[in-house]
Amino acid sequence: MEKNIFFDYASTTPCCAEALEVIQEFSVKKFGNPSSKHSFGNMANAAIKEARLFFADIFNTQPEQILFTGSGSEANNLALYGICLDYLSKHLKNTFNLPPRILVSSIEHPSVKQTAFSLSPYGIDIQCIPVNKNGQIKLEQFMDLITPQTLLVSIHQVNNIIGSLLPVEELAGIAKSKCPNLIFHTDSVQAFGKVQTPRTTSKVDLVSLSAHKIEGPKGLGALIVLNEKLLHSGLRPLIWGGGQEQGFRSGTQNPGLISAFKIASQKALSEQDQITRHTQTLQNYLLASLKNKKLLIESSDRIKKGRIRRSPTSHWIITRKSNITSNSHQFFNEKYTSRNRYLNKCNRKHSQSNV
Ligand SMILES: Cc1ncc(COP(=O)(O)O)c(C=O)c1O
Repeated sequence: MEKNIFFDYASTTPCCAEALEVIQEFSVKKFGNPSSKHSFGNMANAAIKEARLFFADIFNTQPEQILFTGSGSEANNLALYGICLDYLSKHLKNTFNLPPRILVSSIEHPSVKQTAFSLSPYGIDIQCIPVNKNGQIKLEQFMDLITPQTLLVSIHQVNNIIGSLLPVEELAGIAKSKCPNLIFHTDSVQAFGKVQTPRTTSKVDLVSLSAHKIEGPKGLGALIVLNEKLLHSGLRPLIWGGGQEQGFRSGTQNPGLISAFKIASQKALSEQDQITRHTQTLQNYLLASLKNKKLLIESSDRIKKGRIRRSPTSHWIITRKSNITSNSHQFFNEKYTSRNRYLNKCNRKHSQSNV
C-alpha cells in the first residue's frame, strides 16, 4: 500500500487526540451555551474562563485581553479593521488632508495583505514594505514609509511560505521611535508554539494566533490585545450582537474548540524545544540521505533544464531520479517554485494587492 507522508505542517496539522476528546465532550455531554445562567452554561463558561486564564498567563496579560475568534484570518481582520474603523468613526466629520496610513510587509499572509488593501476605498493609504532576498524587512525603506500619519503597522513573525523569522519586537521599537502613537500588529500564526512570541513587555500591541497550526482544531483563533488601552479605546468590533469576548466578537463561543486550543498550546509549548531539536535532526538526516544517494545537489551547481527541480528554499535541488512522487514535485514547482520567485512577486506588487 502506498504510504503518504505529509510534509506540509505549515499549512495545517492533524488535531491531537487530547484536543479531539475535549471537543467531543463539549459537543455532546457538556453542550451548554456558555452565556446561559444554569449549570450547563456554567460548565461551558468555566472551560472558556480556564482557557482565557491559560493564555493570559502565557502572554502576561489580564484574561480580558484574550479575544477568541473564528480563525487566524479573523483575528487579523479584527486587528486591521478594528483599528481603522475606530479611527474612521472618530474622524468621520473631518476630511483628512493627509490620509491615515497602514504599512504591511510585502510577504504578509493574504488575511493581512488583502484585508489592508480592502481598506483603501475608505480613504486609507496602504503601503507595502519591501523585503530582501532573505525575506527580511528593508529597514531604510521601512523607516522612510513611517510618517506621522501612520496609524498601523502589521508585520508577521514567521512567513508561511519561506519560513523567514522577522524580529517584530525590534521592528515595533523602531516604528514607534519614529511615530509613537502607531499601533503595531503581528501575525504570529506560524510562530506560536515554535518560537517565542511577543509579551506585554514588548512594543507590539496586537498578536494573532490560530489553533490548527499546532495540532489544535480548525476554525479557532485568537487576538491577544497586549496593549490593554485598546480594550477601552482604539479597537472597534467587527461582529456585533450578544457581547461575547468582551464585546469584541459576538457570537456563541465554542467551549470545546477553545479548550482544545488550550490543550494543543500546552502540548506545543511544553514540547517546543524537543520538537525543534527533533525537526533539525530529521532535516539533517533527510538532506544527508538524499545527498548520499546523489539525489540532491547544491543549487549553486549548474541547473540542467527539465532534469532537476529546485527545493522551496532554493539551497538544494532534488533531481528527477528521486522517487519523490509527482505530487511532491508539483507541490515544489507550482506552489512554492522558488524562494526568489516568490519574493520577487511579492515585492514587485508591493504597492498593490497580490491576489
Ligand atoms: C501566517 C498566517 N497567517 C494567517 C493564517 C490564517 O489562519 P487561519 O487558517 O486560522 O485562518 C495562516 C494560515 O495559513 C498563516 O500561515
